[in-house]
Amino acid sequence: MEYRRMGKTGLQLSVLSYGSWVTFSKQVDDSASDALMGLAYDNGVNFFDNAEAYEGGRSEEMMGRVLKKKNWDRTTYCISSKVFFGLYGKENKPNQHGLSRKHITEACHQALHRLQTDYLDLFYCHRPDPATPMEEVVWSMNILLQQGKILYWGTSEWSGAEIMEAHAVAAKLNLIGPAMEQPQYNLFERQKMEYEFAPIFRNVGMGTTTWSPLASGLLTGKYNNGIPEGSRLGISNYAWLKDRIMQDDKINKVKALDKVAKELNTSLATLAIAWIIYNKNVTSAILGATKEKQLTENLGALDIYPKLTPELMKEIDSIMGNKPSIS
Ligand SMILES: NC(=O)c1ccc[n+]([C@@H]2O[C@H](COP(=O)([O-])OP(=O)(O)OC[C@H]3O[C@@H](n4cnc5c(N)ncnc54)[C@H](OP(=O)(O)O)[C@@H]3O)[C@@H](O)[C@H]2O)c1
Repeated sequence: MEYRRMGKTGLQLSVLSYGSWVTFSKQVDDSASDALMGLAYDNGVNFFDNAEAYEGGRSEEMMGRVLKKKNWDRTTYCISSKVFFGLYGKENKPNQHGLSRKHITEACHQALHRLQTDYLDLFYCHRPDPATPMEEVVWSMNILLQQGKILYWGTSEWSGAEIMEAHAVAAKLNLIGPAMEQPQYNLFERQKMEYEFAPIFRNVGMGTTTWSPLASGLLTGKYNNGIPEGSRLGISNYAWLKDRIMQDDKINKVKALDKVAKELNTSLATLAIAWIIYNKNVTSAILGATKEKQLTENLGALDIYPKLTPELMKEIDSIMGNKPSIS
């Protein structure tokens, strides 16, 4: 495993980490999540990602049970939670979602309880909340930091301007600004990581823990000929995701990418993840997997990414046609 410093912090995260969105408490049970987390940890993964909203808190409860059973030395791994969406979706009451001091504080306390831990290593604002003043968000996170309930705070799917506003507020108040952002980053989604955030990486420094490396499985080629039974896009209440993913132009690109993977003697999934960690602004790419076989294949990206040459990267760019221009 390779470990990278998270932006300007001293924290080192494994360049491949493991998250539980959709999977824990939906597709996998305690015994499968135990095996998957064990496989990840044994391969050097030291960061496990979670959020209040994942399966209405049940994903955190499952991860908490696994961690308790594993009884790993707490200093050897990091866990996260995220606040914004609340637990109840459309049934949330006014203060059960968003980034008010009340919800940030209560969501943190509840995540600690569900994960059965004394502190979260990483705590994210899962989305921006334009209805709450930035001063309140930055102060709330800093109070949790000072109480030792969280060690680093960050953002997820915030714009560059919002992240910079948080830094400006923190600097004005002598507080700690966001240390990391969690954006989507994969071969289809490049704009934020490669264009919008470029000045932040250059001028401020920022760690990133990126999500959906395989675009929910599209970048494995498994959806080239329809939706295989038991896979994510077949889950009935994720129809919105299916509409976003199952598009002919995307599938044609996936087929073309598969040829590059074959040139490298690897699988498309492995190549797609290797492509992500080739970017040194990625601190950690969060993997998702429902099966040990998938996770093993995906961890293979560590062996493939040193083999990516500038020529191969150009070939991939010309297939995708979406490399952001920063000239
Ligand atoms: N901050 C945010 O807003 C946000 C949003 C989304 C995710 N995340 C985080 O990022 C993590 C990873 O995202 P993700 O789960 O969307 O990652 P992903 O890698 O894009 O998709 C993972 C899914 O693809 C399928 N898959 C993975 N490897 C495979 C392989 N080798 N062969 C065939 N199928 C494979 C599996 O689903 P099936 O077996 O069901 O097909 C797996 O659950 C999440 O767990 C979460 O922690 C954060």
